[in-house]
Amino acid sequence: MKVFITRVIPQAGLRLLEEAGLTIEQWTKKRNLTPAELVDHCRDADALLSAGSSKIDAGFLAAVPHLKVIALHAVGYDNVDITAATAHGIPIGNTPGVLTDATADTAFLLMLATSRKAFYLHKKILRGDWNFFEPTANLGLSLEGKTLGIFGMGSIGQAMARRSKAAYNMPILYHNRKPCTTAEKELGARYVSFETLLRESDVLSVHAPLTADTQDKFNAAAFAQMKPNAIFVNTARGGLHNEPDLISALLNHQIWGAGLDVTNPEPMHPDNVLLQMPNVCVLPHIGSATVETRDAMAILAARNIIAGLKGERLPAVVNPQVYEGKPAGRPAL
Ligand code: GLV
Ligand code: GLV
Repeated sequence: MKVFITRVIPQAGLRLLEEAGLTIEQWTKKRNLTPAELVDHCRDADALLSAGSSKIDAGFLAAVPHLKVIALHAVGYDNVDITAATAHGIPIGNTPGVLTDATADTAFLLMLATSRKAFYLHKKILRGDWNFFEPTANLGLSLEGKTLGIFGMGSIGQAMARRSKAAYNMPILYHNRKPCTTAEKELGARYVSFETLLRESDVLSVHAPLTADTQDKFNAAAFAQMKPNAIFVNTARGGLHNEPDLISALLNHQIWGAGLDVTNPEPMHPDNVLLQMPNVCVLPHIGSATVETRDAMAILAARNIIAGLKGERLPAVVNPQVYEGKPAGRPAL
């Protein structure tokens, strides 16, 4: 049976697929596959291991009737039409859990780097522009005791809150689809409305999936309610914030700074004005990018593929509905 893999993934995952006796075909070019190329490579594949943001929509699924399982090398699945996959009987696997700490580390890094203008000051040094210990130059903001707002209190949001509380004794507010008793008990986190989260957070960190409900959630109306000293951090998906509105909010001093690991679009254009702003730090979507985490993601993605091809339930399945009334999705050959 054949697995098509859309990017080069860590050896740890490839090894598992090989040991399972699967034939591996891997896209190794630097550029993204076009939608037509993805269909071509998947036409005779039994499984797809998708790393990156290729659209897995109804049209694609209809064009590849041979495919039995799709494993994402990611926790987010906003690029997948889950309803269509379920209708086709295809289980979708993702990689939750294993990337929680690495992603929370990235959010914490961006909060701290932004609060001290670290990326901007680094760029100034490269230009030979060094302010010799001027007491009023290069000033950032302290984080000690400031209020952290978490939008989306899942495991990554909780890990960010835990780090921030331990490091700076930050009181935690959060907004979520439903209350999170773990965060309330362990961290004293307080559930608030979206408006209160905007109004009271000194740092507002986004950890929610991109859905029709969260798309453009952080827009002009939202930024207008935030504190002028607030730092906005997004390590989730660029689609949750409206970029022109974020730029205006920064230029008009409605908020103080922003730390972004995700942008819309990705990659961000090198001439983007955000990259020139002292109080903005941007990273190229590296949330889960540590050796250890990427190995763990590749292993979990491979386990999802292998289980799917055996007709077993995936260890991490996004659409368990696919199993309702059927043993396990499309029957394996
Ligand atoms: C990366 O963005 C992921 O969803 O894992
Ligand atoms: C800072 O480096 C100081 O000596 O105060």
